[in-house]
This record gives sequence, C-alpha cells and structure tokens, in this order.
Amino acid sequence: MEIVYDLLVILHFIGLASLLGGFLVQLRSTPRVVNPAMLHGALTQLVTGLALVGLAEAALDYDVNHVKVGIKLAILLVITVLVWVNRGKDAVSTGVWAAIGGLTIVNTAIAVLV
Ligand code: HEM
Repeated sequence: MEIVYDLLVILHFIGLASLLGGFLVQLRSTPRVVNPAMLHGALTQLVTGLALVGLAEAALDYDVNHVKVGIKLAILLVITVLVWVNRGKDAVSTGVWAAIGGLTIVNTAIAVLV
C-alpha cells in the first residue's frame, strides 16, 4: 500500500504542475482562458488529495493533519468551481485567472510550510 501512496503523491505533484503550469503560461496572454491543463490539474488535485487522505487513514498508520488538509480542500474547492464554471469560455477576467493561480500558490505554501 505504501507504493500506491507514493504513486499518488507523484500524481499529486503532476496535478500541481498542470494546474500551475496552465496558469503560468498565460502570464503575457490576452485573452486569458481556463485551459485544459488547469481544469485537469484541479481535478487531479481533488482526486489524488482525497485518495491520499483515505489511504493514510484506512490502510496506513500515517498521521494526517486534518486542519491543514481541510484548509487545502476548502481552497481547492474554490479553485475547482472557478475552473469548472469558466471552462470552455473564450476569455476570463484577469481577476479569475489570478485567483486560480494565486490560490494554487497559497495551497502549495500551506502544504510545505504548515
Ligand atoms: C491546489 C491544490 C493542492 C496543492 C497545490 C497541493 C500541494 C501539495 C504539495 C506541494 C504537497 C507536498 C508537501 C510536502 O511533502 O512537503 C502535498 C501533499 C499532500 N497533499 Fe496536497 N495539494 C493540494 C490539494 C490537496 C487536497 C485537496 C488534499 C486532500 C483533500 C491534499 C492532501 C495532501 C496530502 C495527504 C499530502 C501529503 C503527502 C505526503 O507527503 O505524504 N492536497 N500537497
């Protein structure tokens, strides 16, 4: 089960790379959009994050920081709503684009610092 957990952590990093990468490649773009990398990255973070917690609780003797994970989940749900409702649109405001990227960076900081 540890190997499954480790593989999920790798997928969690790939999801982060996709979500943040989809945001960063548009730093100088006009108009900005919610691209597939952002959409699939957010969904990957949701699925892998929940699976990591479930596996840690159910099959492994790992301590889960519930406050930290709960805050990350709440922030990711905001990100997911933003990417979901704006997917497929021809343009999104700079505010929406920046909120998605900014909240992703906030979640990364919480993951590493807390
Ligand atoms: C945009 C959303 C997210 C980002 C950017 C993110 C980022 C990260 C990063 C960078 C790590 C590695 C931290 C470290 O090892 O020091 C991590 C680990 C982890 N994340 Fe997330 N995360 C996100 C969402 C979530 C969600 C929603 C959950 C759970 C519901 C979650 C659960 C976990 C768990 C359990 C680990 C620990 C893995 C381990 O080191 O054993 N994450 N996350």
